[in-house]
Amino acid sequence: MSTPARIGVLTGGGDAPGLNAVIRAVVKAAATVDMEIVGLEDSFDGLMAADKSRVLTPADVTGILRLGGTILGTRRGGDLTSTVDGASARFKALALDGLICIGGDGTLTIAHELHKRGLPIVAVPKTIDNDIAGTNSCFGFDTAVSFATEAIDRLHTTAHAHHRIMVVEVMGRYTGWIALHAGVAGGADVVLIPEIPFDLASVAACIRDREAGGARFSIVVVAEGAHARGGRRSLVAEASEHQAERLGGVADDIACQLTRLTGKETRAVVLGHLQRGGAPTAFDRTLATRFGGAAIELLRCKRFGVMVANHPPNVVPVPLADVVGRKKPVPLDYDLLQTARSLGISFGD
Ligand code: F6P
Repeated sequence: MSTPARIGVLTGGGDAPGLNAVIRAVVKAAATVDMEIVGLEDSFDGLMAADKSRVLTPADVTGILRLGGTILGTRRGGDLTSTVDGASARFKALALDGLICIGGDGTLTIAHELHKRGLPIVAVPKTIDNDIAGTNSCFGFDTAVSFATEAIDRLHTTAHAHHRIMVVEVMGRYTGWIALHAGVAGGADVVLIPEIPFDLASVAACIRDREAGGARFSIVVVAEGAHARGGRRSLVAEASEHQAERLGGVADDIACQLTRLTGKETRAVVLGHLQRGGAPTAFDRTLATRFGGAAIELLRCKRFGVMVANHPPNVVPVPLADVVGRKKPVPLDYDLLQTARSLGISFGD
């Protein structure tokens, strides 16, 4: 009998609902093709430290399909060169035959570097922001949009009762996918996204028009990375050597200014990490499961240096080289954006 191939799996970057569904699919699919899965804890730390890896069997992943977070733990940041050096050395020490890296931008960059050093890598894209290039969508996005939509629904109650403006800040560092989708699904009146720098005078004019038409409340949905024309993103912490900048505060700023510009009572609500928590939606569980199964199939066929991608109706491999260092902004001619405009939703431009 041949020895089963040993495949490492890790989750890196911020958590997203569906990570456990990918891990589960990887472990279950591997068991059917005589592969052994080694779970690596806390992203690439699991490769470096001797006590941070364990074999995962189908029994270990029973019941995790519906769980948010990641049973493997995760970590952000770190130095690229030392991670790549350490990871390639430890890959051999752990006697691995392949590695599945599930993560966003940072994780995909490391995965690509490891592949360039000859490691057999398959990557799985993950972000609730939905901005990874090369894939139509990522698991986690649908869950985040569903949560944000429900939050907007609930905020309508107070907005309506108090005749207020409610400003809802959603995630989306560099792109406005969540803001646009949740804004449209939740019936927002204004949607502000990083791709379209805004002018609050234009937002205030839209709110005044609504008042003139008899609407006494307004809902503004803003992506955390949206900014005024000629202005900068609102940060709570600047980027440091190995950490990306942290965004936040834009909703508060907008609420203050809209009170001044419209004379209306305005409140800001930040949805924050609530958007990343909880059980994945059926769509995200399905996509995550397809990604996990596809990753094992690619390893079995020795197709390395690729990322699984959702190209409806199929999941396909795309070269990591075509993906890393690129973002997928909301196209300005995206039909949902155009439809939103045609319905009278303001983008503040
Ligand atoms: O990249 C996904 C994301 O959720 C962004 O929308 C957000 O800015 C960031 O992660 C927050 O990261 P952290 O959990 O490290 O604060």
